[in-house]
Amino acid sequence: MSKKLVPVISQQEIADTVKRLAQELDRDYGDRAPVLVGVLKGCFIFLADLIRQMQTPIQSIELIRLSSYGSATESSGEVKVLVGLPESAIANQHVILIEDIVDTGLSTTTALQLLQAYNPASLKLCSLLDKPERRRVPVAIDYLGIIVPNLFIVGYGLDVNEQYRQLPAIYALEDE
Ligand code: IMP
Ligand code: MG
Repeated sequence: MSKKLVPVISQQEIADTVKRLAQELDRDYGDRAPVLVGVLKGCFIFLADLIRQMQTPIQSIELIRLSSYGSATESSGEVKVLVGLPESAIANQHVILIEDIVDTGLSTTTALQLLQAYNPASLKLCSLLDKPERRRVPVAIDYLGIIVPNLFIVGYGLDVNEQYRQLPAIYALEDE
């Protein structure tokens, strides 16, 4: 069956949301330069846009990569760390985890546990999108962009089989 792209979030709404999140971070961090940790691959466009709207100095940008789980492994809820980061990047730092979307919450929870184990001075979560209907483990999002319905969405970094990440807006992928 062929698929069609149905607009869900416009380029303008994304830009407004990214700007608002950057303002919230600026307000809360001031000159306490945070370490931003992005979760690859989906975060890369959001992270790049977010940091260019932030006035607050940034201590460093770090990137981690977690295993994506297919339907087979989804039931186990096991998420592996494919690319981690040195403890020295996190210890005693004000850390903000940057996510594209919190869906089941499994990968975000894994990432938060990984970072917490490295004893940051503080740890917060910033996610562009939240799909709460799919949640399997509770996740508190400190800086939240937009709540989305329970649809599979693509664009602005989000993919299906690595496709559509480059779309500047966000679309639902629906059967024709
Ligand atoms: P989790 O289910 O909360 O662990 O989300 C894991 C990852 O799956 C997210 O960081 C996204 O990269 C990806 N993901 C979740 N929902 C969607 C979606 O609707 N479209 C594309 N990718 C998604
Ligand atoms: Mg993906």
